[in-house]
Amino acid sequence: MLKPRLLCYLVLVLVSLSASNSRVGATELESEIAILSKQLLDSARNENFFGWLKKVRRRLHEYPELSFQEYETSQLIRSELDSIGVHYNWPVAKTGLIASIGSGGPPFFSLRADMDALPIQELVEWEHKSKVSGKMHACGHDAHVTMLLGAAKLLNDRRTELKGTINLVFQPGEEGHAGAYHMLQESNVDKLQAIFGLHVWPDLPTGTIGSKPGPLLAGSSRFSAVIQGIGGHAAAPHETRDPTLAAALSILALQQIVSRETDPLEARVVTVTFMEGGKTGNVIPETVRFGGTYRSATLEGLLFLQQRIKEVIEAQAAVHRCTSVVEFMMGSIKYYPPTINDEGLYGHAKRMGEILLGESKVQEVSMTMAAEDFSFFSQKMPAAFFFVGIKNETLNSDKPLHSPEFVLDEDVLPIGAALHAIVAISYLDDHAVKAL
Ligand SMILES: *[C@@H]1O[C@H](CO)[C@@H](O)[C@H](O)[C@H]1NC(C)=O
Repeated sequence: MLKPRLLCYLVLVLVSLSASNSRVGATELESEIAILSKQLLDSARNENFFGWLKKVRRRLHEYPELSFQEYETSQLIRSELDSIGVHYNWPVAKTGLIASIGSGGPPFFSLRADMDALPIQELVEWEHKSKVSGKMHACGHDAHVTMLLGAAKLLNDRRTELKGTINLVFQPGEEGHAGAYHMLQESNVDKLQAIFGLHVWPDLPTGTIGSKPGPLLAGSSRFSAVIQGIGGHAAAPHETRDPTLAAALSILALQQIVSRETDPLEARVVTVTFMEGGKTGNVIPETVRFGGTYRSATLEGLLFLQQRIKEVIEAQAAVHRCTSVVEFMMGSIKYYPPTINDEGLYGHAKRMGEILLGESKVQEVSMTMAAEDFSFFSQKMPAAFFFVGIKNETLNSDKPLHSPEFVLDEDVLPIGAALHAIVAISYLDDHAVKAL
């Protein structure tokens, strides 16, 4: 009677021991990540490290360069990488580069920063104001480059422990020039594998991050139209073909595409932003030019808008006995696709953000109709894009992106560097385990 009961008891003990063992395993891994992320953030906030981050960012801020002219920016990135002995491929898409840290083999993970500034005159008076008239880092790409360089340093210090390879993608031409598309043309997509990107965000307080699974940013494109009429004396309209009226009615008609032809529950935008016609009050001009932007949460929606914009303008021009030519964006690239976050990678980055900053510091945000050429990466591989907060009213860093009064809270720099690093390291850990 006693013996089987003892056996039973032993089995029970063994079963519960092994169960608690695997539980300890999972918690151990979590606490290892928690310890590592604290180390990364402490290192990045260390006085010397933070001082270096600010120095790099301020230098970039003082010398902004426009899309595909990022020569000095690229040079600065390369000399910082040289100084810590990190290798890179250069040039990729003219001024871009891809640095690699780790084993050189799979799994791979990529981190991305954009490099270009905007044609805006900075209106903020401070010690490190842009020294180039009419150009400004008003979209925080100076901070994006700096955070990725910070990550390079953090990762390079741990390069022997990395369970794969981390690519640092420094990308030119984000502001309407599809730099990401051009980088992808010149890269081995398999060796990028999956990608994470950050954007500073003035709507979120410093110390917080936000994103969402699935579509985060709109697909976007631009159009311009020239309506050709026959000019003449304003007092004899019957002897002309008035392109001004054709343009005015085209612009009104364009507003019906979203209000009458789009499911009210779908997000789409058609906005006309410029119109240029004649020069004086008594002459009907030969031509009128106008254009703007159109956006959609889906690629199908974007292509639909593109087709209807062309049809509506051509038909309205014909009604007024004019002709028209409608063009979309530039060259071979007709649009930026929507930025879609991969659910798995989004969940991974969110969890790392929660470990790094605290659970209450990671928010799920709504989709916005702004656009990003990070979307080209999201078409080719699992991708996750996160907003990183910079709002601090004391510093006035709540001004919108692309404003001449844009201000960055530099406290974001160590946060972004550490977040990049922990997302990448833990991705390699997860995927190396699965490969065994
Ligand atoms: C905002 O900036 C001020 C000045 O640097 C600082 O004292 C304060 O702690 C910051 N607030 C937050 C919430 O980070």
